[in-house]
Amino acid sequence: MPNAIKHLQAVVREIDEPAPGVKRLVLADHDGWRLPAFRAGAHIDLHLANGLVRTYSLCNDPADSRRYVVAVKREEEGRGGSRHIHDELRAGEVIGVSVPRSGLELSSTGMNIFVAGGIGVTPFISAIRVLERQGKSNYRLHWASMGEPSLIDMLEPAVQGDRVHLYNTLEVNRPDIQSIVEFVGPDAKAFCCGPAGMLDAFESAVAEWPESRKHVERFTAPKFVPTVNAQPYSVVLARSGRAMEVQPEVGLLATLEAMDADISVSCAGGICGACRTRWTEGPPIHRDRVLSAQERAHEVIVCVAGCAGPRLVLDI
Ligand code: FES
Repeated sequence: MPNAIKHLQAVVREIDEPAPGVKRLVLADHDGWRLPAFRAGAHIDLHLANGLVRTYSLCNDPADSRRYVVAVKREEEGRGGSRHIHDELRAGEVIGVSVPRSGLELSSTGMNIFVAGGIGVTPFISAIRVLERQGKSNYRLHWASMGEPSLIDMLEPAVQGDRVHLYNTLEVNRPDIQSIVEFVGPDAKAFCCGPAGMLDAFESAVAEWPESRKHVERFTAPKFVPTVNAQPYSVVLARSGRAMEVQPEVGLLATLEAMDADISVSCAGGICGACRTRWTEGPPIHRDRVLSAQERAHEVIVCVAGCAGPRLVLDI
């Protein structure tokens, strides 16, 4: 099977700073061609010049097919990707960009409740721009930020329509998520992206909801805990036939990196989806927060996965 296109080269057309510490990038094809399509709330990986791969949510409308727009908050204590974007990246540079993946499944008949903390609003901006373009008002955004929110200019009609509830936590309490998700009706869906405390409060508030009606986006990968009593197994790269033993204390990701396998790694913690890979023999032990049950039948998030059998064969 020919390799599917996974990456393209994009020009950084514009960079602005809509608020201190937040840079917004507009990426486009060099010759202005349409870019691969995406769904509201999809992610892309940026392949930065210093070898880092970092994943960001697209925040423009998918109908805006010649641009990808992402917003990046500078994280002083992060792993270096946001500092590189803030300090080194310049308009006019060409960078590698993955094909967009994932996205949000919005409710067409019920309410869509978006709960965001700070820069976690980005996937919801994309979704709200779609809903507004379609003339729909079946959503509410509850957005907490320390100080003035940074990308509010992308939500103008929604703000005017009173569908955005802002919580400047320097002045008011954080949103009471339990009360926000009460009485929203059986067709409602709820989405949350923000810091860990907000995600915990959200998960507790919607604990009784079916999985299909709730969605959590994480910025920070949970700490990897090696499995006790795990057995070694063999990982095989189907396209080249190369194989290597995976020792439990080394893990699958480090083994694939030692093999120089063709995978992208961003979060290394099973939350961004950059390393999703097709498998043909296993079965894998899935530990990610990305794939659905159906997707797991043929794909695996290799940065956190194990294997329940003696051989894991990957379609790379
Ligand atoms: S690198 Fe993010 S899920 Fe594997």
